[in-house]
Amino acid sequence: MITRRAALASGLALAACTARSQPVPPIRALKDAAPFPIGFTVQAEFLQDPAYAALLAQQGSQVTPEWQMKMEYIVRDDGTFRFDAPDAIATFARAHGLRLFGHTLVWYAERPKAFETLDESRISFRDAYANYITAVVGRYKGQAVGWDVVNEAVSEDGRGRRESLWSQKLGDLEHIRLAYEQAHAVDPAPTLFLNDYYLELMPQKRATFLRLAEAILKTGAPLQGLGTQTHVNADLRPGAIKEAMRDLASLGLPIHLSEMDVSTARARGLTTDGWEGRQAALYEEAAEAFMTLPPRQRFAFTFWGLRDSDSWLRKETAGDRPLLFDAAGRPKTAAAAFEAAVGKARL
Ligand code: G3I
Repeated sequence: MITRRAALASGLALAACTARSQPVPPIRALKDAAPFPIGFTVQAEFLQDPAYAALLAQQGSQVTPEWQMKMEYIVRDDGTFRFDAPDAIATFARAHGLRLFGHTLVWYAERPKAFETLDESRISFRDAYANYITAVVGRYKGQAVGWDVVNEAVSEDGRGRRESLWSQKLGDLEHIRLAYEQAHAVDPAPTLFLNDYYLELMPQKRATFLRLAEAILKTGAPLQGLGTQTHVNADLRPGAIKEAMRDLASLGLPIHLSEMDVSTARARGLTTDGWEGRQAALYEEAAEAFMTLPPRQRFAFTFWGLRDSDSWLRKETAGDRPLLFDAAGRPKTAAAAFEAAVGKARL
């Protein structure tokens, strides 16, 4: 059900479809409107922009490094580590009272040369893997509130588990068990997540993801939360997000809605402006779905970017407008719809 305020806002948007869409009336800061942490993904360089830093500190209560806490940034070709960028993000978070969420320790997409060419006569692959997790989790011990320990372990077709350098070298489930055990041993405080995407779009993938989570739990690994990335397109079927949230909540674990954006360019059919109302409705649905979770399962709601101009999707289509704030940092219809949905539930 779209709220009156969101309907008004999307009505504004629809009316404005012919002209440039109008910014919506001022809204409460999202971190004040929502009864759960509001996260944004960030890159260290963005923090140098005072307008960006001010908007982030005003709207958010948590940050996720977009790529600079991954192996591709940290692990140099010679096997040494660099932490200047993730440290800058951690320092900014601490200075502004923002929670820090670690993303991500083990991902099929990351296979640094130093691991691919490891001299196993000098150190076992298992020890090098454990040493990496120890170094990264240990560096942010006492600050990180959670980690995506394993990212995107379900296969592309959603039917099984994904092959990776890590599964090939250390075993299909064993590399996963080891990662959670090692992370927890280094820092028992943060909530340890399994994170994946298209869990709304692909019910089969969602079922496989839940089966994988249960298999990991059965190994005794300290898996403690489920992350659903929620990268969706503006033409996603209404109700898909709510159905996914219901299923994901069934294990009783904390849920991190971890990377939401709503691509207008990837949506089939209308022009980008034409999707503004649908986009608002999807952000409203996600907010309502998250609000239906028991408070103990609402870990955080993270957007994969602050302003449209910061989005990774812009690399694909320059005109994509997937986020809540426009390139000038003004709230869009989607921001009003999200704020209304989380605020409404508090009346
Ligand atoms: O900033 C450097 C630039 O200085 C350099 O010239 C250029 C070429 O090397 O690289 C730039 O860094 C790129 C960075 O994005 C910033 O644009 C990295 O190469 C590139 O690998 C990185 O891509 C990120 C990608 O994950 C891979 O890490 C995207 O920003 C990020 O949005 C994307 O995020 C993923 C999540 O981790 C997992 N879920 C899906 C999501 C979207 O793909």
